Amino acid sequence: MSTSQKVVVVTGASQGIGAELVKAFRKLDYRVVATARSIKPSEDSNILTVAGDIADPATAQRVISEAVARFGRIDTLVNNAGIFIAKPFTQYTAEDYAAITSVNVAGFFYITQLAIAEMEKNASGHVVTVTTSLIDHAIDGVPSVLASLTKGGLNAATRSLAIEYAKKGIRANAVSPGIIKSPMHPQESHAALGALHPVGHMGEMSDVVGAVLYLDAAPFVTGEILHVDGGQSAGH
Ligand SMILES: NC(=O)c1ccc[n+]([C@@H]2O[C@H](COP(=O)([O-])OP(=O)(O)OC[C@H]3O[C@@H](n4cnc5c(N)ncnc54)[C@H](OP(=O)(O)O)[C@@H]3O)[C@@H](O)[C@H]2O)c1
Repeated sequence: MSTSQKVVVVTGASQGIGAELVKAFRKLDYRVVATARSIKPSEDSNILTVAGDIADPATAQRVISEAVARFGRIDTLVNNAGIFIAKPFTQYTAEDYAAITSVNVAGFFYITQLAIAEMEKNASGHVVTVTTSLIDHAIDGVPSVLASLTKGGLNAATRSLAIEYAKKGIRANAVSPGIIKSPMHPQESHAALGALHPVGHMGEMSDVVGAVLYLDAAPFVTGEILHVDGGQSAGH
């Protein structure tokens, strides 16, 4: 088993931004561990797929242990799995709360802990987490407190990890997208969603992918929340 090739773990990799990240990292010749509940086996021997619910610590355990068994190391973890539930605050149900905290927070916590423990063995690694610019700039007409509650915590945790591990060779960054054309948003909503951005249109999945790849190749950048949001976080 060669261990010279870099290895990235991508969560939420079955569709949307996560699936695009898998393709982009493969183009850079990374070996990729892709996880999601509905992920299918790949014919590419450099892609290991692990199916499971990212909120379950047992999934995190399987992803990291199978990654190390197959590829020998973990260089990068992309915490991309996430769900979004927009509702007026008082209409959120206990199920909404449980679902969004499970995927967005528990789904970050367990796998990041295990990935960093592996990275520490090589004194090298990078954790990049996909959050959202709604955290910095709530939008009138898009009530989404549970997105802010969970993803806001991830931005704060990113800075905290960056400082805790700064001298240990491990970086932590986040990409904070605006609203992106992914399967999350039906085509008929695009015009209205586009108008929510100062630039007047939605972002592409490639915009987020490009930001993740930049951060991964930027050894002096840690604790950064990189906004890829058509100006949303700057103002309106
Ligand atoms: N699209 C946007 O406008 C936008 C804006 C800001 C931030 N983001 C963030 O970007 C990330 C990717 O979003 P996207 O637009 O690509 O969304 P998407 O198309 O809905 O994809 C979400 C991915 O997360 C996985 N996932 C959901 N629940 C999961 C669970 N319990 N366990 C494991 N995997 C789970 C899904 O796979 P399975 O269903 O197969 O499990 C899927 O692969 C998310 O964190 C999202 O919050 C997106």
